[in-house]
Amino acid sequence: MKQPIRIGALVSGSGTNLQAIMDACELGDIDGSIVFIGSDTPDAAGLKRGRRLNIPTFVVNYGSIIRRYKKTPETVTVPDDFDLSTVLSKQTLFPADADGETVKAFFITRAAAEAKLLERMNPYPFDLLVLAGFMRNLTPYFIDRVNTVPDHPRIMNIHPALLPAFPGIDGYGDTFRYGCKMGGCTVHFVDYGEDSGPIIGQRAYEIFEDDTLASVREKGLKLEWELYPKCVKMFAEGRLKKIRETYPLKDGKKMHRTVVRILPPPKR
Ligand code: GAR
Repeated sequence: MKQPIRIGALVSGSGTNLQAIMDACELGDIDGSIVFIGSDTPDAAGLKRGRRLNIPTFVVNYGSIIRRYKKTPETVTVPDDFDLSTVLSKQTLFPADADGETVKAFFITRAAAEAKLLERMNPYPFDLLVLAGFMRNLTPYFIDRVNTVPDHPRIMNIHPALLPAFPGIDGYGDTFRYGCKMGGCTVHFVDYGEDSGPIIGQRAYEIFEDDTLASVREKGLKLEWELYPKCVKMFAEGRLKKIRETYPLKDGKKMHRTVVRILPPPKR
């Protein structure tokens, strides 16, 4: 018998995806429960959803760490186990020729914040960490300290676009402004890049002439609330297998990609 899974959640906003996952746990669709809710901002309405159910919540205020670094960098301390060159060698958030100081400031401030996040998460052991509208990129420093078992990723994210199109902070806006006739949402495991990790599930909707950004967002969010709990359920059932594929290309080169294979549902 598989044990119920313990789910940690990180939110930055209203937390409607978190609610969809909590509802699926409550209904027994997901065999699991939310064990903590963390946020990068004290204003996240998603925190209230947890407090109402007596789920432990905490805030690591990224904004104040970043502002402090700008004013007095010497007061922002990086964790003892942080090594900038290791993080730089793994990350794919910035291109290799990006401005060195900006990149350094990014990883130092994020390591300071992420060390606090890890500290706050520490009392609550978890099997899966869901990013439910968490609007901060996680760095290799944090990811490596959560994904401790090789080939068993356990950080999931939902993104409001059909990846790999439109990664970044405004998936619905980017889809709409581009003039797409289809939009969608994607759930994926988090890797070292921006919304670039192996895809677990996607849903798509049509965009018509009379659609607006608001109606596109509304259609997309409805699909997110269906898709995210389904993906968490598959994780809970042990059905998500990460594998490395290699494909030959025309020019004799090879393409490598880590993908998720979905195993059949468990027999009842
Ligand atoms: C959702 O649309 C989610 O896909 C998006 O933020 C919204 C959060 O809504 N996430 C991202 O853009 C992550 N890069 P919610 O707080 O109501 O779940």
